Amino acid sequence: VFPSSQDAVAKLAAETAELIRSNEAAGKQTVLGLATGGTPIAYYKELIRLHKEDGLSFANVTSFNLDEYAGLPQDHVESYWYFMHQNLFNHIDIKPENINLPSGTVADADIPAHCAEYEQKIKDAGGIDLQILGIGRTGHIGFNEPGSPKDSLTRAIELDPITREDAAPAFGGLDNVPTAAITMGCGTILAARRIVLMAWGEGKAPIVNEAVTGPVNDIVSASYLQEHANSVFYIDQAAASKLE
Ligand code: F6R
Repeated sequence: VFPSSQDAVAKLAAETAELIRSNEAAGKQTVLGLATGGTPIAYYKELIRLHKEDGLSFANVTSFNLDEYAGLPQDHVESYWYFMHQNLFNHIDIKPENINLPSGTVADADIPAHCAEYEQKIKDAGGIDLQILGIGRTGHIGFNEPGSPKDSLTRAIELDPITREDAAPAFGGLDNVPTAAITMGCGTILAARRIVLMAWGEGKAPIVNEAVTGPVNDIVSASYLQEHANSVFYIDQAAASKLE
């Protein structure tokens, strides 16, 4: 629990820089698992600052994003591809060919093959070194809504009504919010070597408490993180306010 979200993201960005630099010194790529949404924006700002002011290079970084909305092309302003380019990739020296997100526009019939290919790409990259997560009000990590099995892999998923409601303002109304997404599975996420979940503000306090102190089950997919050997929550005082 940090005094503020800014303290938490400064720590996480410093850790990320250290990981990238030590891998680089050993001649290795760093594989980052990335999230979208409001939560990681300050973290991405800090990574951009480290790139611009502290010489941190992303030339040896490969990234895999958690998810993408079904039906949104890359240039849609609410697509996660667009979000990542606006908030991080356009401002650092990551190679475009090292950026990976699930596609929102594959034909339904091709989704299983696309998802299997995404899993294979993660394996071929050597697995995820550091997975960044936010948490939804449903307890989702990625878009693993309630009912997602612990060993689930990248797949299409129907979005929970609560998740769609939370996205409605950004889309200018509920009717415009996609009903489905492609998401890494809980198993994909849990295979990462280190996982950091960030949460800020009072609104996240009840679900943070459930994820950390509640039973491990598929009702709250973030609860699976309790069983990961190197998983940590970086939260501010407000998000910690309901911890039992
Ligand atoms: C985003 C993602 C989601 C969000 C979660 C919280 O790629 O997979 O799990 O992390 O919905 O969203 P915010 O940060 O907007 O509260």
